[in-house]
Amino acid sequence: MSKPLRKVVFPVAGLGTRFLPATKAVAKEMLPVLDKPLIQYAVDEAVDAGADTLVFVTNRYKHAIADYFDKAYELEAKLQEKGKAELLALVQGTLPRHVRAIFVTQPEALGLGHAVLCARPVVGDEPFGVILPDDLIWNGGKGALRQMAELAEAEQAGVIAVEEVPHDQTDKYGIVDASVIDDRSASIRHMVEKPKPADAPSNLAVVGRYVLPARIFQLLDQTTPGAGGEIQITDAIEALLKEQGKVLAYRFEGTRFDCGNKAGLVRATMHMAMQDPALAPTVRAFLGNL
Ligand code: G1P
Repeated sequence: MSKPLRKVVFPVAGLGTRFLPATKAVAKEMLPVLDKPLIQYAVDEAVDAGADTLVFVTNRYKHAIADYFDKAYELEAKLQEKGKAELLALVQGTLPRHVRAIFVTQPEALGLGHAVLCARPVVGDEPFGVILPDDLIWNGGKGALRQMAELAEAEQAGVIAVEEVPHDQTDKYGIVDASVIDDRSASIRHMVEKPKPADAPSNLAVVGRYVLPARIFQLLDQTTPGAGGEIQITDAIEALLKEQGKVLAYRFEGTRFDCGNKAGLVRATMHMAMQDPALAPTVRAFLGNL
């Protein structure tokens, strides 16, 4: 983990069945929280962490994501002609100039670990980040991935974002057993994917942010299907842990919204609306009436 983080992988090949029928035609990562799609929040966080290469692991149904980050000549020309400078800046600002987007396909839905492995030819031999855009993490200061990248560099170790979840929800997450180092970090002893509450070693759940060494690719290559019959990143990290002895769990500063389900997307939308001085009074008054 000697190099700073430059590359971030976004596994975005999921079907988004929880948002059908909308996701019949719209990639779930393109669902908006106010005026920005979920993928934009994820990309902004990656860029904030220092990334200049974004790797989207996608499939044939997700062209909208590539279109969104592409240059929109006609629209830009129209906005320019009409002198709409602010709107033009929004359209051009989806991807900063120094950042490139690379799209690789995951031909079959074989699991999150397999999706990450598909990014191997682009990431090569350097540490990288993974962001699952469903998990929107809002923080007024440093983004969650930047906090993690700094810790990974300082400690020369892989870093996984964690958060406590209710005990009866352990079967929705990767769960870690870790020994506390300080308020925010802990040394992982063991990780397991989606254990039943009775079998879970704790209620400390992995959320969708990882900083990993390139070695994880070789381990993923050797990982056999695990929970749900899928190739799990959690299992490869467990193997990394056995081999290197040090992977850190990190309680990020910020609020996480699970936008993979309706309640989470509503919460994120309300939260972002309350951050916006132009919207907050309207939303507050509306909620008061409800
Ligand atoms: C994935 C990971 C899981 C993690 C979760 C966080 O699961 O496999 O370990 O806790 O993301 O969102 P998924 O939600 O893709 O089933």
